[in-house]
Amino acid sequence: MNPELRRALDQGLRRVPGMDAATRLLAVRIETVRALLARRLDENPLPVPDAVTPSDIPSVAELGPGDRVLAELDQDGFAFAIHPADVPFFNRRSEKMPRLRYRLHVVLRRGYVCVRKRFIGQPRNASLDAHLFSLLGLFFYNEAASLLRLRDLPSVPRIRDVHLATRALFIDYVRGKTLQQQLAERGEKVLDIDLAPLGQLFDPDRDRREIEAFAQGEGDDYRDRVEEIVRAMNARGVAPLDVKLGNVLIGEKTGALYWIDFERAALEGTPRYRERLAEHHDLVNRWFGLSLPGGGA
Ligand SMILES: Nc1ncnc2c1ncn2[C@@H]1O[C@H](COP(=O)(O)OP(=O)(O)O)[C@@H](O)[C@H]1O
Ligand SMILES: [Mg+2]
Repeated sequence: MNPELRRALDQGLRRVPGMDAATRLLAVRIETVRALLARRLDENPLPVPDAVTPSDIPSVAELGPGDRVLAELDQDGFAFAIHPADVPFFNRRSEKMPRLRYRLHVVLRRGYVCVRKRFIGQPRNASLDAHLFSLLGLFFYNEAASLLRLRDLPSVPRIRDVHLATRALFIDYVRGKTLQQQLAERGEKVLDIDLAPLGQLFDPDRDRREIEAFAQGEGDDYRDRVEEIVRAMNARGVAPLDVKLGNVLIGEKTGALYWIDFERAALEGTPRYRERLAEHHDLVNRWFGLSLPGGGA
C-alpha cells in the first residue's frame, strides 16, 4: 500500500476506540488461518536442540508415547508431574502457585512433547478491553501468527499445532529454566510466589528491582545473545512486547537461549508496527542493557 495512504488510514482508524486492536485481530486471524490452510504445520521442522523428546520422559518406558498430559505448569513456570516416575525429571518446587490466567500443561501429542497453552480467561482485575479481545481470540491468534513466522529460528521453540476450537497452541517443550528462575535460585525475591504475600505482585517498582539484580549478576553474559535473537525476530517482522526475564529460557542441554510468549507481540503489517517496534526496543534496552533504536531515539 502507498505509505501516505497507509498513514492516513492508520490515523483515521486510531480515532475510533478499539479499532487498532480490531484491525490487528483481523490481520493475525487471517494470517493464522491462511497458514493452516497452506498446511504450514505439516512441514514438521526439527525441534530445537533443547526440546524434550518422548524417550527423555521416564514414564514413557512404562506407559508408552501415546497422547496424554505429563505435567502442569504453575504461575512461575514450575512443572508438576502427573506420573510419579516423572517427578524428578520436571523442575517441581515444594509449593505450587496456581496460574492467574491460561492453563499450561506439558503434554505428549503425536510423538512430540509440547506445552499446551490454552487461551481461556483473563484475571478478574483485567481491563474490559483485555476481556473483550481475549474473548475474541486476539492473544491466541497473535501468538499463533508470531510463532508461525518464527518457525525456522533456532532460538524459538517450534509451534506444532493450533487448535482453533479450544484456542490451544502446542509448542515444543524446552527443558531448562527461565532467566527469572535462575535469578531466584541465587536468592533474589523475584518470583510471583515470593511477591504475592508481600502484596508486590503488581507493584510498579518490581520490574526495576528485577532489572537491577539481573544487571548486577549474570546480565553481561546474556546481552549479545539476546541482541542476536531480537534482531532475528525483528527480521521476520515480530516484536515481542512482553519483554521480561520470565520469557527467556536457558536450554538445559546446550545453554542456548530461547524466546517465548508472543501473545502481545507486534507484527509487521499490522497498525502502528513501527511505533510498537520502537517500544519493543525500549523494553529490550531497559531489561538487557542494549541500545537498539527505540522510541526515544
Ligand atoms: N515452550 C516452552 N518450553 C518450556 N517452558 C515453557 C514453554 N512455554 C512456556 N513455558 C513456561 O511457562 C511459563 C509461562 O508461559 P508463557 O508462554 O510465558 O505464558 P504467560 O503468558 O502466562 O507468561 C514460562 O515462563 C515458562 O517457564
Ligand atoms: Mg510469560
